[in-house]
Amino acid sequence: MAQLFDVVVIGGGPGGYIAAIRAAQLGLATACVDEWRDADGKPALGGTCTNVGCIPSKALLQSSENFDQAGHHFAEHGVKIKGLELDLAQMLKRKDKVVKASNDGVIYLFKKNKIAFFHGRGSFAKAAPGGHEILIGKEAITAKNVIVATGSNPRPLPGAEFDEKLILSNAGALAIPEVPKRLGVIGAGVVGLEMGSVWRRLGSEVTILEALPAFLGAADEQIAREAAKIFARQGLAIQLGVNISKVAQSKKGVSIQYTVKDNSSKTLEYDRLIVSIGRLPNTAGLNAAAVGLKLDERGFVAVDGDCRTNLPGVWAIGDVVRGPMLAHKAEEEGVAVAERIAGQKPHVDLDTVPWVIYTTPEIAWVGKTEQQLKAEGVEYRAGTFPFSANARARALGDTSGLVKFVSNAKTDEILGVHIIGPFAGELIAEAVVAMEFRGSSEDIGMICHAHPSLSEAMKDAALAVDRRALNI
Ligand code: FAD
Ligand code: NAI
Repeated sequence: MAQLFDVVVIGGGPGGYIAAIRAAQLGLATACVDEWRDADGKPALGGTCTNVGCIPSKALLQSSENFDQAGHHFAEHGVKIKGLELDLAQMLKRKDKVVKASNDGVIYLFKKNKIAFFHGRGSFAKAAPGGHEILIGKEAITAKNVIVATGSNPRPLPGAEFDEKLILSNAGALAIPEVPKRLGVIGAGVVGLEMGSVWRRLGSEVTILEALPAFLGAADEQIAREAAKIFARQGLAIQLGVNISKVAQSKKGVSIQYTVKDNSSKTLEYDRLIVSIGRLPNTAGLNAAAVGLKLDERGFVAVDGDCRTNLPGVWAIGDVVRGPMLAHKAEEEGVAVAERIAGQKPHVDLDTVPWVIYTTPEIAWVGKTEQQLKAEGVEYRAGTFPFSANARARALGDTSGLVKFVSNAKTDEILGVHIIGPFAGELIAEAVVAMEFRGSSEDIGMICHAHPSLSEAMKDAALAVDRRALNI
């Protein structure tokens, strides 16, 4: 008879592995099925995030930033380096080591929590007494509850299929064996900006081609304007409003034909091209149609606010369902679903999921932008504070950017916080906490923040909502 589990999670990315850990903590007999393989064909748990996403990109962002600092900024601190050299092979090796340590970390956590791990593709076979039969190759297991956490894949550009040599997805972009002289990027979203930054710092001439007429449309407009200025100063060329007409392999690499606003046609040649135009939900291997698992019109697994699908006992979380495609959003949903299965009543608030773009400077936000509040007709007050007036930022030598609070004009409740500047990705946590507790900008202004610290810019921006910032 097939082994019976209370919970079978299909997918071992941040959504799936965290769901499995929480389910096991709650005393549920739990299994996780994941098909990812490393270069040797061995299991590599952690999904997109660990293998070709969050973790390797942050490793390369750090290494390339160190190189950039050593080459361009150390001298200002009185640190002189002769004969600075890039050892790209070592940089990539270190990135692979960071990934491997994270893969091994998940395996350790599975063992610690007594989670059964099945390596291979998991698919729905049929309804079974008391649950669902899941097939992994020829092996069948039975689950009272199934959590689908199969993630997403990069969206290809028609006519420019990924070959991971010249035309690269996120996976290829993280493993280019030599620094391309000219690197093209299609899509000025999060991957384009992060990977474009990595290779620019290592010496590539990077051009990012973006279809939309506005830069970073999801961010607050003031922050996006500031970001565009800073990236242009760094030498990251961003061309907006492009319409790609043809991508072809050429003698020298890849040639791209595109038109711009006035319909004039341009052709550019690149040694390599990264295509980063968003991601698509991954449901290919699930056998979803055969068991009647409903997908929405965009191919995501259809779920309600609690991540329930149309099939009893089947849940779905993370990139494969609606909402932001972020690892921490997947994790929150994973925890909540495990707790719901155990009879608890958790809640995930998608309105307080923070975004962080790990460029230099970092960009981070939570909640509503000014333009959203205007569109919704909400009366608000905004307060901003520049890092140039923050003593710690001056000591760090990184004074670009600002913090911005937007609060309800009547109640002062914080509706959004937007940051571009050093360690924005760490600073945003304070804003998330404040918003979860429905705090006001006055609350942040009344709290003691260490001096000198970047967090003082948060306090000053909060005070600026009431026009009483102290340091400007
Ligand atoms: P995934 O991580 O995609 O995991 C799904 C897993 O399921 C995979 O291992 C897959 O092999 C497996 N699988 C799929 N189908 C089956 C099947 N039928 N049977 C068995 N296994 C299956 N997010 C952030 O929050 N911060 C970041 O800094 C960040 N950086 C990123 C950088 C890049 C370059 C990219 C591409 C993404 C980044 N993201 C980041 C997004 C983040 O990676 C995703 O939001 C996150 O991985 C989603 O988690 P998930 O568990 O839903 O799916
Ligand atoms: P994205 O959605 O962030 O950006 C895609 C960009 O490509 C958009 O600006 C879009 O207008 C543009 N685009 C779409 N079609 C185009 C075309 N034909 N020509 C030119 N431009 C076109 O998607 P991206 O960068 O691929 O990343 C996918 C997702 O992965 C992100 O949305 C995010 O959820 C996640 N991610 C998160 C990171 C983080 O949290 N730091 C880092 C990297 C990725």
